[in-house]
Amino acid sequence: MAGVTDRPFRQLCRRMGAGLVVSEMVTSDTRLWNSRKSRLRLDHTGEAAPVSVQIAGGDPGMMADAARENVRRGAQIIDINMGCPAKKVCKKAAGSALLRDEKLVREILEAVVGAVSVPVTLKIRTGWCTESRNGVRVARMAEDIGISALAVHGRTRACGYHGQAEFDTIAEIVSRVGIPVFANGDITGAERAREVLDYTGAAAVMIGRAAQGRPWIFRETAHYLATGERLPEPSAEEVRDILLAHLGELHRFYGEVMGVRIARKHVGWYLKTLADSESFRKTFFQIESAEAQHASVHEWFERRITRGAQAA
Ligand SMILES: Cc1cc2nc3c(=O)[nH]c(=O)nc-3n(C[C@H](O)[C@H](O)[C@H](O)COP(=O)(O)O)c2cc1C
Repeated sequence: MAGVTDRPFRQLCRRMGAGLVVSEMVTSDTRLWNSRKSRLRLDHTGEAAPVSVQIAGGDPGMMADAARENVRRGAQIIDINMGCPAKKVCKKAAGSALLRDEKLVREILEAVVGAVSVPVTLKIRTGWCTESRNGVRVARMAEDIGISALAVHGRTRACGYHGQAEFDTIAEIVSRVGIPVFANGDITGAERAREVLDYTGAAAVMIGRAAQGRPWIFRETAHYLATGERLPEPSAEEVRDILLAHLGELHRFYGEVMGVRIARKHVGWYLKTLADSESFRKTFFQIESAEAQHASVHEWFERRITRGAQAA
């Protein structure tokens, strides 16, 4: 997820049990890779294998070049974005907007698969709009061209993020292709993951927004899928430790100024899942230094932990 799954967050999710993580999308226009934002997105230092990098764009030649260049920089999987409502990259359709043009989809997939020797995966939605759910056709085409696995978000491009994800089209795609399909959309916990896997027959589930501020969702889900047992919620001490380590990684990765800003977003997500956090959230958002962010989170958790111990 652009703006969310940066390297610190991906590494945390892997440690917490995610089987595979994918980079934020990088534009296929390599001329734009000199910006600080792109440079950080292209940095995979220390990441656990397999490193999967998502590329976005609408020009087959540029997508092929971007794939090759990412492999040269360490990508072990190239993922093509045809699933995100990014409208345009360089005045051309990109992301899920491509699904309307199946000829162009074919050209892009052929160009990228032909350009690299690592596996190429594809992320799509169920189709362009509800009247034209061409996800099955695109999936079959992708398999023919040599795509290794397919992630499908159970909404059409036109749906944006409205309504509920639907899994009938994903089930149909699973039944019509031989490559692994990852089901995606509104999976908020372990039990839902089990239901979606059973309903669709998919090889895996992919979790996005529900991992924001709750990276342990991967541990819980993996455990539940393997054993049928629910893990207890993490303790306040563990959440504190995870959050403080995450903060430290963000500050190191982005540097203090940008790190402090990006940390606000993540801390906001963690706090959303915790009771009585609203006023702290407001205070935290005013803090301007890395050290003060760290200290304030530490103190806030200390107070909660002490209160919890006194109440027990
Ligand atoms: C902030 C945000 C950024 C996203 N960026 C991307 C992206 O770069 N590439 C992509 O394939 N999907 C992107 N997505 C879509 C998600 O990968 C996922 O398909 C969608 O959120 C549905 O799954 P979820 O309900 O588990 O979040 C993004 C979603 C959000 C909310």
